[in-house]
Amino acid sequence: MEYGLHCESVSCSKGLIVLLLMLMHGGSRATREEFIQALLIDYDSRIQPNFENDSYTDVNVSLFINSVDSISEQTMDLKLNMFIQQEWIDERLQFYGLIDSAFLELDSKLIDLIWVPDLYVTNEKSASFHDVTVPNKMLHLYENGRIVYRLRASITAACPMKLHKYPLDSQVCALYIQSFAFTRNNLRFRWRKVNPIQTNENMELPQFELREHHVSECLSFGGDTEGNFTCIQLQMSFNRNIGYFVIQVYIPTILIVLLSWVSFWLSIDAVPARISLGILTVLTLTNQRTNMASSVPQVSYIKALDVWMAVCLGFVFAAMLEYALVNVMERKDVQKSDSFDPDLSKVKVQKRGEQIDRISRLAFPLVFLGFCALYWIVYTKVVRLYP
Ligand SMILES: *[C@@H]1O[C@H](CO)[C@@H](O)[C@H](O)[C@H]1NC(C)=O
Ligand SMILES: *[C@@H]1O[C@H](CO)[C@@H](O)[C@H](O)[C@H]1NC(C)=O
Ligand SMILES: *[C@@H]1O[C@H](CO)[C@@H](O)[C@H](O)[C@H]1NC(C)=O
Repeated sequence: MEYGLHCESVSCSKGLIVLLLMLMHGGSRATREEFIQALLIDYDSRIQPNFENDSYTDVNVSLFINSVDSISEQTMDLKLNMFIQQEWIDERLQFYGLIDSAFLELDSKLIDLIWVPDLYVTNEKSASFHDVTVPNKMLHLYENGRIVYRLRASITAACPMKLHKYPLDSQVCALYIQSFAFTRNNLRFRWRKVNPIQTNENMELPQFELREHHVSECLSFGGDTEGNFTCIQLQMSFNRNIGYFVIQVYIPTILIVLLSWVSFWLSIDAVPARISLGILTVLTLTNQRTNMASSVPQVSYIKALDVWMAVCLGFVFAAMLEYALVNVMERKDVQKSDSFDPDLSKVKVQKRGEQIDRISRLAFPLVFLGFCALYWIVYTKVVRLYP
């Protein structure tokens, strides 16, 4: 009987049962249903593979990321939906040649009868399995005892973010996968050699794009236990698309700053026009700053957006002060000309005030352009402090 040859001490009783079944069938192979019943007779799902000898079970892990639903700065986390696939070998479930198939697909109710690794995501805040219409789990059993176990989960994972370069930043979020109860002496996770991470090609994120991902092992100390826990990690780098901020923040503020310069081309005598223009632009910018501040987390350090807003406010404010200066100069000149030389007065009055205006017409745009260039270069190229 070639089928019985693979009978090992562990799975011997099972082989015997199946052999008995086959004798009842007049020597032909057992049906799959009978086989599954026999397979699980002497199997205890509470006990892990390699329990008897001092070796560990290797579990190959791979992920298929279905969608990244959100990355939130407010709560500093990301939500994703993925398939978690684990592959390992359980020698107790070998069935070389016992039935006319090389592998079996088990129903989700049978999965509960088989030992599975106690994988968990360390930095998970909340997670759920999907149960419609049945639990979204799959288990394939191969004749050499290899098991492929896949399930679908939605996970919210903590992702601490550095927002110094916000909104010109990119973020790295990680998933740490560990065993909860088994130390490295009993269970070891490792990333599958080929394609450990696959992503849905149609994946779309409102503000980010997934630039790259990187898998590696991580350290996990066992504390008081006899060994360390197995730990693997996935790091995902996301680039923020600044399109939203260009439209919502940068272009409007640039326009307001440009608007404040209109004042330099107005007559010095147009006091109401120039004052109201100045106050209007300062107020609008302050208002926009307050609006923006409510949609980002209140961190205690300065973000790139804060720098931009503060400098723009500075420019608008300076344009208003410029008029105050021009106005003072004009009045001084008028006083001087009144007391000394009435004939020369008109020429002189226009000179100092207008000169400042003329300089401002050139200096303000140039300095602002310089600031813009510096800002983009510093925040997109130079500052590599935070990835
Ligand atoms: C565990 O013990 C069984 C029975 O002695 C043996 O067949 C198997 O190869 C051992 N496994 C490992 C990984 O050493
Ligand atoms: C896990 O991966 C290793 C290395 O690629 C491979 O040799 C082994 O057969 C895999 N195990 C399973 C159960 O697929
Ligand atoms: C756990 O890991 C630490 C650091 O790698 C190492 O010093 C320690 O010996 C390990 N403990 C065990 C029981 O392997």
